[in-house]
Amino acid sequence: MAQVLCQLPQNDDPNLLSRNIPCADAGIYQISPELVLLQSIDFFTPVVDDPYLFGAIAASNALSDVYAMGGKPITAMNMVGFPNCLDIDILTQILCGSTDKVHEAGATVVGGHSIEDEEPKFGLAITGTAHPEQMITTLGCQAGDLLVLTKPLGTGLLTTALKAKVLSEQQIEVALKGMERLNRYASEAMLKIGVSACTDITGFGLIGHALEMAEASQVRLTIHGESLPDYPHAIDMAENGLVPEGRFRNHRHYMPRVTGEEGQDQHIIDLLCDPQTSGGLLISVPAQRLDQLLAALNDAGDQAFIIGEVDSGPAGTMQLI
Ligand code: CO
Repeated sequence: MAQVLCQLPQNDDPNLLSRNIPCADAGIYQISPELVLLQSIDFFTPVVDDPYLFGAIAASNALSDVYAMGGKPITAMNMVGFPNCLDIDILTQILCGSTDKVHEAGATVVGGHSIEDEEPKFGLAITGTAHPEQMITTLGCQAGDLLVLTKPLGTGLLTTALKAKVLSEQQIEVALKGMERLNRYASEAMLKIGVSACTDITGFGLIGHALEMAEASQVRLTIHGESLPDYPHAIDMAENGLVPEGRFRNHRHYMPRVTGEEGQDQHIIDLLCDPQTSGGLLISVPAQRLDQLLAALNDAGDQAFIIGEVDSGPAGTMQLI
């Protein structure tokens, strides 16, 4: 995508603040001194068989970018690709799951668009708002900050196993609950405490999204391989070699900027590169606020895993230890 975008004419609209933020989670457009619009879009083919759950996960995933920026989602638009031959009740269920999740986010579904497609696809375009001085971006990581991740890893491994019928939806229930969980509550917790930077973990995996934050902030991230949290059964799938294609793409693209791979177990590398659906927030927090953040996340009902720290090594890189 970057190869395509760099060939387009330069956008010099001064209100497009995300122009100056490499790898911002959402488009940031200033409409008044107190207000920016945050806009983001995501859609994909079903990751689970249950259509209601698929809708809920797709909505949670699409809303996540606004939450990573400390914003408040306002409106959502549905994007549907659906085959003629499938029962229309399936689509109703997908939209019900999604709409319930959008309502949980305090936002409104304002419409959408559908096309006939060979394979079902569903996602949403989200518009949120934030105060320009209060929004959180990928820019602010400071050497000495701790890195906190709010959901375990492994959803790519587990949904691949589900598709291959190696695992059932019951067996991956913990991960399904995790994917369905809005990042809203973790976002509100980090806003209350005040953090340096944040991004959310989705298709590029922890490796990709962490490196993009390292690049934007011009810092190095040190990640403790043994501290990476995993959903139940994810490592079993990795050890059996049932690994999603996206894991290899992420590895190829991002591993050149990482040192220390050789000292890690293979399953740690699989988790690091695993593409996530509706993954958690990766928060960079000053050391003196860590305990407050952990308490706030706990009060919000979210998990918090300390997976590493920020240092002043080569900008835009990662060190695995
Ligand atoms: Co994002």
